[in-house]
Amino acid sequence: MTVLPASPIERLRVLADAMRLRILLLLERGELSVGELARSLGTSQSRVSNHLRLLREAHVLRERHEGRSTLLSLAIVDDPLAARLWEALREDVARQPEAAADLERRERVLDERRGKDGDFFDAVAGRWDKIGTDFATGVARERALGALLPRGMVVADLGCGTGWVSRSLCGLVSRLVCVDRSARMLEVAASKMPPLGAGVAVEYRRGELDQLPIETGELDAAVCAMVLHHLEDLHPSLSEMRRALRAGGALCIVELAPHKEAWMKDAQGDLRLGIEPRDLVEALRRAGFEDIALESPNDLYRPRRDDGTRAELPLYLVRCRKPARD
Ligand SMILES: C[S@@+](CC[C@H](N)C(=O)[O-])C[C@H]1O[C@@H](n2cnc3c(N)ncnc32)[C@H](O)[C@@H]1O
Repeated sequence: MTVLPASPIERLRVLADAMRLRILLLLERGELSVGELARSLGTSQSRVSNHLRLLREAHVLRERHEGRSTLLSLAIVDDPLAARLWEALREDVARQPEAAADLERRERVLDERRGKDGDFFDAVAGRWDKIGTDFATGVARERALGALLPRGMVVADLGCGTGWVSRSLCGLVSRLVCVDRSARMLEVAASKMPPLGAGVAVEYRRGELDQLPIETGELDAAVCAMVLHHLEDLHPSLSEMRRALRAGGALCIVELAPHKEAWMKDAQGDLRLGIEPRDLVEALRRAGFEDIALESPNDLYRPRRDDGTRAELPLYLVRCRKPARD
């Protein structure tokens, strides 16, 4: 059924009522449910509903449904005649003593509405991380972090292994280069990579850290997590990382602090039992990095020993830059 617009005379008649003008003044400030509107006017829903029916028929109200609530707002802006009429009336309406009381009550009604939301989240705060993880892939909020980074970043995960770091990075950058010496590790990393968003590319390149399969200056940034303790000599690999970064490019390394778990040499292929942070900082300086900062993330590596107990090995993180003027 086509709804015919109310005639100008009908609209004038509808607007010629103090209560209906108070309603318009309240709804002009934002959406209210019928109940909230009635409370703002200090009256009952039944008394308001007849006025609402007439205002609806005059097409000056907009309705939006949210769950079981109907939210009302002013539709006057869509109608030039009603907009002109309202413009001529609204100042006078706002000056009426009832209007000030209405607006004060409206504030209290909105406070209650906010209070209800507050109580809801207070009640579920302990469970929210379970309720709030009902996302299909979870990438939407992760992408928000990527949106903070400059567009078009090319980043490498050096010694990517099965792609634990790569999986977090792939939504944040436009091109991700995964490098590892193990073909099988690269295959597993590729098989675990989540679907990529538009404008994101991931490349898998087999190669050695001391002879990176990366063009000089190709990278904006690189990460190298839990890899350096597999190397005999740090310098050739750190020099290669510097070469692969553009001037000013960032490098971040995650490493194990020195430890005594000698069994890890056989069990995990480690060549060194961790690396002294000061030695790594010095090696980075020698390789030509600057702005070197050492951090202790609140984390431990906890590999399981043969007897079922777990080692608790402190990790650290070093970030640095290739000089901007190289
Ligand atoms: C302990 S895993 C770490 C994987 C990943 N970065 C992570 O944090 O989960 C070490 C990885 O470094 C790779 N790797 C070790 N030495 C390497 C080298 N010289 N060149 C390239 N990759 C190397 C290994 O093949 C392995 O996949």
